[in-house]
Amino acid sequence: MTMIAATKAADLLTLDELGGEGVRQIFETAAAMKATPGEFRGVLSGKSVIMLFEKPSLRTRVSFEVGVARLGGHAMFYDHGSVKIGERESVKDYAKNLERWVDCIVARVFKHNILEELAFYSSKPVVNALSDMHHPCQALADFFTLRERVGSDESLKLAYVGDGNNVAHSLILAGAMLGSHLTIVTPPGFEPQFDVLRRAMAHAQKSGAKITVTNDVEAVEGHDAVYTDVWVSMGQASQQAFRLAAFQGYQVDAELMALASKGRPMPAFFMHCLPANRNIEVTDEVIDSASSVVYDQAENRMHVQMALLAKLMGQRA
Ligand code: CP
Ligand code: NVA
Repeated sequence: MTMIAATKAADLLTLDELGGEGVRQIFETAAAMKATPGEFRGVLSGKSVIMLFEKPSLRTRVSFEVGVARLGGHAMFYDHGSVKIGERESVKDYAKNLERWVDCIVARVFKHNILEELAFYSSKPVVNALSDMHHPCQALADFFTLRERVGSDESLKLAYVGDGNNVAHSLILAGAMLGSHLTIVTPPGFEPQFDVLRRAMAHAQKSGAKITVTNDVEAVEGHDAVYTDVWVSMGQASQQAFRLAAFQGYQVDAELMALASKGRPMPAFFMHCLPANRNIEVTDEVIDSASSVVYDQAENRMHVQMALLAKLMGQRA
């Protein structure tokens, strides 16, 4: 099966489905859920969520399972580590079975087009829990974290240093929708995909966002936050030696953070989606510093996902 363009309004495969207003709405609900969790206990009462995972996970799995339980719903984990989705039976039959039992499908997949197929055939919402192309729940948590720390989305300046991968793609789309200033710094050949940049530019025209892509690490100067991710993503183990060599000079260390903080009233925040390869893409000194917000990002995964699920299938949000 090749690319399927159509997804229902009630899916979250790439962030484009939400738009800037949808993202802001989720942030408002997430903030309320974080502040007064007791008020939202029955939002998913009687609802079931299936979690289909082809790849390992700590944060995504736990934050979804705990989040659904906090809202009074039921989440089931289905391990697709050995048999991938679509291998035992067609994705169509799979989706058509699941929609008879559950109210939402959360899936972590190798190939993004598997998610598109699931969403095409399922009448129930499908949420991307990470694909090779996007990690939208992560980007929601990251911009929510920045909003807590910095305030306004519009004046925010975020530098991403590293691989132009799934995490970078979702940060670019989220930042473009929210009107932020994004500087993406990658080694040559590891830039974000053109199609994502094209979509981001369309969002930026409406929001006023500014997106710069460069190979020059000096471009991090004067940003509110510096973000990095692993240089070798899940599924790329065979490229490890080549990637580690290509990314030399792109490690986030104290010197790079000092450059990012130049001219700012306070040190730049450090961000990472985790898991991190410590002392590879980021030094211990930086990830363990007072400016690191990596555990806030992890906590906020749960709050934004609760708000998202409430929007997609709850009684209020
Ligand atoms: N950041 C993130 O998605 O972590 P996991 O791979 O542990 O879910
Ligand atoms: N880019 C990483 C993100 C992990 C949360 C990966 O896909 O493995």
